[in-house]
Amino acid sequence: MRLDIFTLFPEAFDWFQSQRSVQNALAEGSELRLFNYRDTTPLNAGQVDDSPYGGGAGMVLRVDVVDAALRAAYPSEERPRVVLLSPTGRMLDDALADELTAEPHLALLCGRYEGFDERVHEHLANDEVSIGRYVLAGGELPAMVLADVVMRKLPGALGHAQSAVEESFSQMLEGAPEYPHYTRPVLHRGWGVPDVLLSGDHERVRRWRAEQSRARAAQLDPRAE
Ligand SMILES: C[S@@+](CC[C@H](N)C(=O)[O-])C[C@H]1O[C@@H](n2cnc3c(N)ncnc32)[C@H](O)[C@@H]1O
Repeated sequence: MRLDIFTLFPEAFDWFQSQRSVQNALAEGSELRLFNYRDTTPLNAGQVDDSPYGGGAGMVLRVDVVDAALRAAYPSEERPRVVLLSPTGRMLDDALADELTAEPHLALLCGRYEGFDERVHEHLANDEVSIGRYVLAGGELPAMVLADVVMRKLPGALGHAQSAVEESFSQMLEGAPEYPHYTRPVLHRGWGVPDVLLSGDHERVRRWRAEQSRARAAQLDPRAE
């Protein structure tokens, strides 16, 4: 997969790119590229935003600036699916992450300030994705969240091939939360480990985990759906 991220703060992704799962995905042939709107702005002195028509607080990212960034990155007609990060977009969940992971090439548009000129939403983006119904200062953290969930689903991103397959909300668990995990020590301050996990009986363990997963699904807060 190739993932292109358009942002005013490419340095914000330094830590993200150093993560093991991202490094693994890159080693397996994926690409992560960062584009700064300021590098291709047609305006003087690196200007990328302007005050809103009709007045009001804050600055708006200009449509000509975003258009120039996309044209520079994709000089031919062929463009990847362009995903604009927005608090009011389609809510990111595991199904949407699966859908996006199937794309060979994605472009993510990170907003700042008051967000994008509406014509970016209408004419330049294919999708709008939100990571939650709250407003963050910029699209960089949402882009990292989206990139993380997508890249860790790629083959080879995780050390253990099954780790992303049997995970909370995966098809393997029928969309339910994952079962609880325990590791050493077997007893800490009187807090023990369920006997079944120490039994060595794989079939019992499998059944216990399935029950736990279903019980957790029943307890999920319906308001979060
Ligand atoms: C301060 S926000 C703009 C908020 C906008 N004025 C509003 O009221 O909806 C700036 C940028 O951060 C990003 N952003 C903020 N919260 C987000 C969220 N929950 N999900 C996805 N992107 C978000 C978007 O790219 C947005 O353009």
